[in-house]
This record gives sequence, C-alpha cells and structure tokens, in this order.
Amino acid sequence: MLLKKEELPVVPRDEMNEIHYEEVDIINDLYDSAINGNVEKTKEYLEEFINHIEDHFGFEEELMEQNEFFAYPIHKMEHDNVLNRIYNVKKQFEETNDTKVVSNFLENEFVPWLINHLNTMDMATASFLGGF
Ligand SMILES: [Fe+2]
Ligand SMILES: [Fe+2]
Repeated sequence: MLLKKEELPVVPRDEMNEIHYEEVDIINDLYDSAINGNVEKTKEYLEEFINHIEDHFGFEEELMEQNEFFAYPIHKMEHDNVLNRIYNVKKQFEETNDTKVVSNFLENEFVPWLINHLNTMDMATASFLGGF
C-alpha cells in the first residue's frame, strides 16, 4: 500500500472526494503489483488507472465548464501535464517491462502531485462550486 485515504485532502464537494477515494484503491493495487514485479498485473492495473484518471479529470473539467469557473484553464493545464507524464511512463514501461518505472513514478511523482493538486486546484474548484 502506498497511500491511505486519510492522507488525501478533503475538498468541499463529496462527488469529487468519492472519485479521489476510488483512485486511491487503484493506485494501491497498481503500486503493489509494480513493487512485486508482476508485469501482467501491472499492465492491467495501469490500464485501469489511466481510464480512471481520464474520467476523473474529464468530470472535473465538465463541472468547471458548466459553471464557468475562472481558473478552468490553469486547472486543466495541470491535468494535461500530468496525463502526458502518465502516457510517457506507460510507454517506457511497455518498452522495458520494468515495473520499477511505474512504482517509482507513483511514489516520487504522482502521489506528491496528487496531494498538492487536491490541496490547491481541486480545493479552489470545489470551494467555488459549493458542496454536494
Ligand atoms: Fe480531482
Ligand atoms: Fe483536478
């Protein structure tokens, strides 16, 4: 396990928190497979992780567009940048079958990024939108 749900910043909008908690489960499954050197499972969970991330970001971007949130471009840019990093990591992993590429990315880049992103962009967005 890499990340506990209690370590995630809670934003004032439950539907966003729910997506974040779901993502923690996938991150932990992916990390455990990668740390154990299980190439097949890492491939499976990496697909699941990418699908979830794309849905997660898409959901927030739609909410921001619908509500004409002023910081939409900067929030979307953070999503796009990390997505590009994830696609690169996937490519690198597929070329090498080295699961450490994935575990190192999650541990050293993605989780610190996620916590910071939730504390800043997601927090500001959820505060603007109001909770439910
Ligand atoms: Fe989010
Ligand atoms: Fe976000």
